[in-house]
Amino acid sequence: MNRNAQWYKLSYRWIVYLCTHSFTAFINMKQEDINQLNQTLAKANAEKILTKVAALFPGKIKFASSLGYEDQIITHFIAKKNLPIPIFTLDTGRLFPETYDLIDRTVARYKTNIEVYFPDYKQVEEMVNQKGINLFYHSVENRKLCCGVRKTEPLKRALSGLDAWITGLRREQAVTRTHMQAIEWDAMHGLIKVNPLINWTVGEVEQFIKKEGIPYNKLHDKGFPSIGCQPCTRAIEPGEDIRAGRWWWEQPEQKECGLHKS
Ligand code: ADX
Ligand code: SF4
Repeated sequence: MNRNAQWYKLSYRWIVYLCTHSFTAFINMKQEDINQLNQTLAKANAEKILTKVAALFPGKIKFASSLGYEDQIITHFIAKKNLPIPIFTLDTGRLFPETYDLIDRTVARYKTNIEVYFPDYKQVEEMVNQKGINLFYHSVENRKLCCGVRKTEPLKRALSGLDAWITGLRREQAVTRTHMQAIEWDAMHGLIKVNPLINWTVGEVEQFIKKEGIPYNKLHDKGFPSIGCQPCTRAIEPGEDIRAGRWWWEQPEQKECGLHKS
C-alpha cells in the first residue's frame, strides 16, 4: 500500500472513531439529563410537568393528540395554563365520525387550534391499489404497512425540527408500555418524549374528565376505552383488557402501530 493510501485509511478510521464516540457521548449526556429531569419531576403532577417542559423547550415542543380520554386531559391543562405547546393530530383518513366531531368541540371549547396532519396521498393510493382497501385484516405485515403510511410517516413530519414531544401514554395501558417513564429518550425519533400521565390509572382518568367537565369522545360511553381508526377498533366486553378492542385479531405484543414502538 502506498503512503497516500495508508494515510487515507488511517484518517478514515479516526473519523469513524470520533463520530461513533461523540454519538455515544451525546446519547449518554441526554440520558443523564433525562434521569435528572425524571428525579426532579418525580413528585410533580401532570400540570407541573407540562409547565416545566414548556419552559425547557420553547418553540421546540408539541403535543400529539389522538383526542382520546388521556389526550383530552393534556389539552385541558395546556389550554387552562395557556402553555405555548402547539397541539396536533394525525388524521389517518379512517377515523370515527365521533373523533372528527370531538376535534370541532375541543377547538370550540378551548378556543385553541389543533393542527391536522394527513398521510401522503400517493403512498395511500399505491398501498390501497396494490393491497386492497382493508389490507390490515390480511396480515400483521399489511397492518404495519398501513400504520406506517397513515400514522408514522405523518408523525415524522409533525415532529421534524422539534426537541421534544408530548403524548398521553399510560404505563397501565399495555404490556408494551409497562417500562415507560414520564420523560424518556425516544430513539426512534431522536428526541425527548414526555408522558405526563404515565402513572395515572384508568379510574383517575375517568374521574378527572367528569370532575372537570372535559369534552370527550362519545364512543367512550359505548365500550370503547381506547380509540384508534374505525376499522381497527371495536368495543370491549366487561372484564376485557382496555386495549382488547384495538387490532383485536392480533397478539398483545404486536399491538403497537409504530408511533411508540417499531
Ligand atoms: S396507538 O399507538 O395504540 O395508536 P394510543 O391510541 O394508545 O396509540 O395513543 C397513545 C398516544 O399516542 C396518544 O396519547 C397520543 O399522544 C399519541 N397518538 C395516538 N394516535 C394519535 C393520532 N392519531 N394523532 C396524534 N397522536 C396520536
Ligand atoms: Fe391503518 Fe388500522 Fe393502522 Fe389505522 S390503525 S393506520 S386503519 S392499520
